[in-house]
Amino acid sequence: MCPHCTQSLEVVESGLVCVSGHRFDRAKEGYVNLLPVQHKRSSNPGDSDEMIRSRQRFLNAGYYHSLVSAIIEQIPEMNTLLDVGCGEGYYDGMLSERLPGLSVYGIDIAKSAVRLAAKHYRKHHYAVASARQLPVMSSTIDLAICIFSPVSDAEIARAVRPSGFYLEVGPAARHLWELKTALYEQPREHASLRRTIPDGELLREGECHYEKQLNNAELLALVAATPFAFRGYREKREALQERSDLTISLGFSWRLFKLADWQDAPVSRADSDGALESNGL
Ligand SMILES: C[S@@+](CC[C@H](N)C(=O)[O-])C[C@H]1O[C@@H](n2cnc3c(N)ncnc32)[C@H](O)[C@@H]1O
Ligand SMILES: [Zn+2]
Repeated sequence: MCPHCTQSLEVVESGLVCVSGHRFDRAKEGYVNLLPVQHKRSSNPGDSDEMIRSRQRFLNAGYYHSLVSAIIEQIPEMNTLLDVGCGEGYYDGMLSERLPGLSVYGIDIAKSAVRLAAKHYRKHHYAVASARQLPVMSSTIDLAICIFSPVSDAEIARAVRPSGFYLEVGPAARHLWELKTALYEQPREHASLRRTIPDGELLREGECHYEKQLNNAELLALVAATPFAFRGYREKREALQERSDLTISLGFSWRLFKLADWQDAPVSRADSDGALESNGL
């Protein structure tokens, strides 16, 4: 969907164009930038390059693999998936490997993340865009997923087809608890993921827990990939970064929602205010 006039975009050789003539060139990596300059809240929005690269190293080492397996079991038969806040596309890659017929679309506000995703997963469709204005036409998506990223409920309800699905994943109460106890005097548990959304009903929910032993290099990559790189007391952070090994607890909560049918279409479908939910982070 064209971010300027909300009409549909057609594929042309150089990229995408709408009937009003708004053009979006495809970058050499294969993504398009659908984030209008006036929607940017900073010159380089989203996660930093350093966080993105560290997260990619950490994810590629397979530490969140069990989460993907748990997620895949939940995904019903479908054609079109939209990953909101897709990062480097790690989960999309795993999902399309297991479900080869799936058309995968992903958006993220961080251009360097989208560039990596597009470079790596050539068959997927990636765009720089905001969760506040998803660049897809209304009711075109079978399943939207949001893994540890901000999301707008109104935009999910608009983009997902009636009776389609929305999967939200966030941290369980004691996700990375050992990092928190190493950094803070009084670490706080993560709040529970919400169990309701305005335009849908909860279909299934679950948690997935496991432990991993990290060597120092893996620990450094994990710290750099998370906001912990800047948090906690400096001395504690430095002491943590010296650790040669640490067993950490990983815990994820997921909720699968089914969106409302047209008959009970809610008011907010037509009334997107772009407010973002924090996804329990
Ligand atoms: C914790 S990362 C999760 C990335 C990916 N889902 C994963 O789990 O590997 C959060 C992502 O949300 C993106 N993000 C932050 N604000 C956003 C917004 N308003 N719209 C779209 N993406 C956003 C960040 O750039 C970052 O890539
Ligand atoms: Zn347009």
